[in-house]
Amino acid sequence: MNEEGLATDPLAQLLAWLDEARESVPQADAMTLATADASGRPSARIVLLRGIDERGLAFFTNLTSRKADELRQNPRAAVVLHWWELGRQVRVEGAVVEVSDEESTAYWKRRPRASQIAGWASPQSQSLADRSDMDARVAEVEERFDGGEVLLPPFWGGYRLVPDSIEFWTHQDNRLHDRIRFIRSGAAWSQERLAP
Ligand SMILES: Cc1cc2nc3c(=O)[nH]c(=O)nc-3n(C[C@H](O)[C@H](O)[C@H](O)COP(=O)(O)O)c2cc1C
Repeated sequence: MNEEGLATDPLAQLLAWLDEARESVPQADAMTLATADASGRPSARIVLLRGIDERGLAFFTNLTSRKADELRQNPRAAVVLHWWELGRQVRVEGAVVEVSDEESTAYWKRRPRASQIAGWASPQSQSLADRSDMDARVAEVEERFDGGEVLLPPFWGGYRLVPDSIEFWTHQDNRLHDRIRFIRSGAAWSQERLAP
């Protein structure tokens, strides 16, 4: 990988890599999302990248989950995408904002009904008595909606990671991997090469 081969806009470059990954990598949209609480204690989990444009990277989740709680305390995050088959890694860091209700609703409507029911039924990240506790919650939600439209829950929605740093990494067999990091300064991006 060299500087000339990369787009000047790192979000466009990420989209190009993502398109390639989608052709050959199962679950290419899965990314590790790291957040931290107000004391700086970190936590990480996988979420799906569900939208990428010039504003940043969108993902959707339960707004009462641990990650959402941490994002309220500390609205910054880092994500990592790794495509082993392509020998590529992308690291993104930045501030996190909530997406609009319209955007969350538009995404919610595209989800399969079973995922919508699960979204209502699951008090994500809270303790459950046992598996039957969850099954009972699902049955209760199914009965409540009774075959009708399953609306967006008030406790569910999306976030957008607004990047201020995006690093592209490519594998080299001799371990002298290539790393090029873009740093945002205002509306422009600058670039630097990092040692592997
Ligand atoms: C492949 C994969 C994709 C996932 N996608 C999402 C997602 O898009 N949104 C989500 O809330 N959780 C997703 N999860 C579940 C999360 O990893 C996690 O268990 C959950 O969000 C609770 O995390 P938290 O307690 O840190 O908030 C996914 C898990 C895997 C393995």
